[in-house]
Amino acid sequence: MELPGVALITGAGSGIGAATALAFVQAGCRRLTLADLNSSGLEKTREDIKRHLQSEEAEIVLATGDTTDSVFVDKLVTGIVERFGELNYAVNCAGRLGPWARPTDADLGDHDLTMNVNYRGTYLCNTAEIRAMMKNKATGPEDIPGQRGAIVNIASTLGFNPIPNAPSAAYCASKGAVIALTRANAADYSPEGIRVNCIAPGLVDTPLATRNGDPDAIKGYEPIINMVPMKRWGRPREVADAAVFLCSGRASFVQGHVLVVDGGFTIS
Ligand SMILES: NC(=O)c1ccc[n+]([C@@H]2O[C@H](COP(=O)([O-])OP(=O)(O)OC[C@H]3O[C@@H](n4cnc5c(N)ncnc54)[C@H](O)[C@@H]3O)[C@@H](O)[C@H]2O)c1
Repeated sequence: MELPGVALITGAGSGIGAATALAFVQAGCRRLTLADLNSSGLEKTREDIKRHLQSEEAEIVLATGDTTDSVFVDKLVTGIVERFGELNYAVNCAGRLGPWARPTDADLGDHDLTMNVNYRGTYLCNTAEIRAMMKNKATGPEDIPGQRGAIVNIASTLGFNPIPNAPSAAYCASKGAVIALTRANAADYSPEGIRVNCIAPGLVDTPLATRNGDPDAIKGYEPIINMVPMKRWGRPREVADAAVFLCSGRASFVQGHVLVVDGGFTIS
């Protein structure tokens, strides 16, 4: 069992977050809280997990709410600790893409919303998750000093490698901020045995990227796919598996890392 503890996954109603929830269950996690704005997406993720589990039991709590709302986030995390006694892993996937526009053509409201969801939401979740994890009893084999929890934030290669005619500066800046937050929290909470890492996906086939499967949007990505050495979209599961690794004991010395999962896009 890679993941015997208690997990929180945000943005679990769709795409990468939904795939991460299933991957966690397949890695042995049996106590999960899944959060998202979209309650029907959460229900679907839980149904998919139940289908996989068949007769096996798992406690899967659904929490509908907005990760930019500090009251929701604090209640979410304290609720997990009340119910399960601890929180061991968190994967923060909730995010938005927003319109593709350069700042001179962009709407300030869109900028603020993107920064709020992608950065502030991740900041609030990290803070509440770390606060809960600091109370955990340190665990781990004797030769590895006490581990109390692991957090994975979902950034983007655009957070350090923006490309022309692609998502907005606000999206790129919000993801750069997620990378900086990850590294700052990793530095600050290492003494408490909390690992904080992030994943920088390239282009991944989800409703966010494809605009819910819009053929024009998909066609618009062809030049980008051609620049990817592996010449294809990533699958949500390929990001989810990286999150499983980073939360597992196999990554016990991986701290403040930005794991790029992009089919080679950023080396092209
Ligand atoms: N798909 C890609 O190509 C790609 C690439 C790089 C990074 N990412 C990042 O991966 C993460 C997951 O995106 P995805 O592609 O799976 O998209 P998605 O749209 O399929 O899933 C995102 C989920 O986040 C939820 N969400 C949005 N705002 C929220 C909020 N304020 N509170 C709670 N939930 C909220 C949505 O309802 C949705 O279910 C995002 O942070 C995204 O920026 C995606």
